Amino acid sequence: MKKIYLSIFCIAFLGISFLSAQEKIPQVEELLAKMTLEEKIGQLNLLTPGGGVATGSVVSEGVEAKIKAGKVGGVFGVSSPAKVRQAQELAVKNSRLGIPLLIGSDVIHGYKTTYPIPLGLSASWDMDLIKEGAQMAAKEATADGINWNFSPMVDIARDPRWGRIAEGAGEDPYLGSQIAKAMVHGYQGEDLTQPHTMMATVKHMALYGAPEAGRDYNTVDMSRLKMFNEYLPPYKAAVDAGVGSVMTSFNDIDGIPASGNKWLLTDLLRERWGFEGFVVSDYTSVNEMIAHGLGDLQAVSALAINAGLDMDMVGEGFLTTLKKSVEDGLVSEDQITKAARRILEAKHKIGLLDDPYLYSDESRPEKDILTEENRSLARKAATRSFVLLKKHNNTLPLAKDANIAMIGPLANNKNNMLGTWAPTGNPQLSVPILEGLKNVAPNANITYAKGANISDDSTFAKKVNVFGEKIQIADESPETLLKEALDLANASDVVVAVVGEATEMSGEAASRTDITIPDNQKKLISELAKTGKPLVLVLMSGRPLDISEEMALPVSILQIWHPGVEAGNAVGDVLFGDYNPSGKLTNSWPRSVGQIPIHYRMKTTGRPGPESGEFQKFKSNYLDSPNTPLLPFGYGLSYTTFEYSDVKASSKELSADGSIELSATVTNTGNYDGEEIVQLYIRDVVRSVTPPGKELKGFQKIALKKGESKTVTFTISPEDLKFYNYDIEYVYEPGEFEFFIAGSSDSEFAGTFTLKK
Ligand code: BGC
Repeated sequence: MKKIYLSIFCIAFLGISFLSAQEKIPQVEELLAKMTLEEKIGQLNLLTPGGGVATGSVVSEGVEAKIKAGKVGGVFGVSSPAKVRQAQELAVKNSRLGIPLLIGSDVIHGYKTTYPIPLGLSASWDMDLIKEGAQMAAKEATADGINWNFSPMVDIARDPRWGRIAEGAGEDPYLGSQIAKAMVHGYQGEDLTQPHTMMATVKHMALYGAPEAGRDYNTVDMSRLKMFNEYLPPYKAAVDAGVGSVMTSFNDIDGIPASGNKWLLTDLLRERWGFEGFVVSDYTSVNEMIAHGLGDLQAVSALAINAGLDMDMVGEGFLTTLKKSVEDGLVSEDQITKAARRILEAKHKIGLLDDPYLYSDESRPEKDILTEENRSLARKAATRSFVLLKKHNNTLPLAKDANIAMIGPLANNKNNMLGTWAPTGNPQLSVPILEGLKNVAPNANITYAKGANISDDSTFAKKVNVFGEKIQIADESPETLLKEALDLANASDVVVAVVGEATEMSGEAASRTDITIPDNQKKLISELAKTGKPLVLVLMSGRPLDISEEMALPVSILQIWHPGVEAGNAVGDVLFGDYNPSGKLTNSWPRSVGQIPIHYRMKTTGRPGPESGEFQKFKSNYLDSPNTPLLPFGYGLSYTTFEYSDVKASSKELSADGSIELSATVTNTGNYDGEEIVQLYIRDVVRSVTPPGKELKGFQKIALKKGESKTVTFTISPEDLKFYNYDIEYVYEPGEFEFFIAGSSDSEFAGTFTLKK
């Protein structure tokens, strides 16, 4: 608050720029004083020599010559201490001022030791684990030369058609903010100059997770009120946690794409939130403003730098047009100096200006990458990410000497374990589910049949196959596959079917209008169910799926997302009960695509549908579906059961300078020890702008032995009850609040308290 006040004061009364209120770094200022305009523009250029995964259509050319000429500020897609040293030498020994390079990478869920996809990891609700995962990823990535990471991705997403829902933390701004903070702290540590920490980038600012119709890169048009209350909090949390850089999103926001949006990048990010790091575009997103209809390359590049964008990823609009824009009077040299200063300050922050080879220690990869310790953390993280969606007849956990038929196209498969955006991981190192079950239960009798292809639709399969052989095209006769599987199932005591999506069915540019399990796999599932054998579905996906039909079958369902390099071992741990599943969904799972977008914070309308779910004319409901999701946000079962009692407030009143304790007793009433994620939801009954139906305001993950009870307490102060009002002021309003504490978002309110003036 102080910072904002100071900056406004400086701008309004002293006539000096916001940045001048910050402390200048002598090393950076000395460099800036020596730099030509071209050299400053060079710092704003981010290239990829094509060594990594190029996601856009453009790959940079002539990178080496450009580095030597001082025309590059950073590169990505380059790794290993030797290659990074080479790249740094090109810059340090050949360019006039010898400024080292930022070395970027997309380290999204682990580096070489791949963890579950972020959506999966978010289902752990375990901030220590998430932070530890980010720390481990930073240790591995920096050992391989990386000093700047394009993560965390914190885009709130409520539309499972959108493939990149896999990369984020789900639908909720509060949980999303906690996760954003944990990841920034994990990557950056206490001191960015330490060689095992890397600079984080919060992305994609902003609102990228709300594209119209769930189609990637599509337009976003949203009220400010909704932005501030629902979509912006995780970006802000990352900024508050000290994130070093921010990446813009591809999408249009209110008529101006993020990369050219001055309101977003300057008024909000810098002036209101006090962000002091630098802003990088997404892959060619500056150039893409031409296609958005905002002018030619010179015009959109000028728009971007004037809006507050500092670094241009791959498109080279800055490199090729900014000098002319200065000459034409479209951009001031001061604007370019400010951007170059921010890039140099980042290099200073990570220790590169003092030691360009800080991340080129050749002894580190062997010590730090893919160690036993890292793999065991990946295994633990995967077990914590799984969500038990349905229990049937106590089939789970399985006995370690059971006679098991393992069926399904994802049961004995390495290619799909890592999930989307794992370009630095190696799928061949992953443990298939079949192997993992055998590892955990060597005395079980486990047989295997593929049962079905991932998809028999070859047109679809080819489309999702762009990055390699991740999905099997219909290469085996469906009838033969099915018969083999049914024979095996009939000869077993229990069937475990590993089914769902291939890696490339979610992630970037992988939107789907049909979010069910592919038809041929659905057929396999229903035929297996007909055998009458106890059936466990192990469901893999990068998004919430529509599993209405499968939920109606007599089956148990364990959601495992894409679990990472230790996939099979983790699934073994959970299926055989070495770890009792505790994950909870961080998105509402719809009954059908027709309900999308769907989330638990929905407002009450003026004509709410009846609570019974019965259809009523002229009420807000559907003719053909209940309003409620198939599976609510916060939902997830355990092998044991938990009961909540004595939900209460320590007082009926909360004073403006006080706090109140909301508590519940949770008892493990089942037959296993277990962990429960206890959630607090609050509803502001009356406010000046319509309130959400409920809001998550706290959660705690607790372990309870069988029969054990614990009281869980949340301390709430007026600060926790704040929201953005119509004038976008962050305020609380006195009055009545309702609350409940439960194991899912769909419980009834259990108590009230009043916030006094
Ligand atoms: C993605 C970003 C990513 C960048 C660089 C883009 O296509 O949207 O999330 O960081 O590529 O790889």
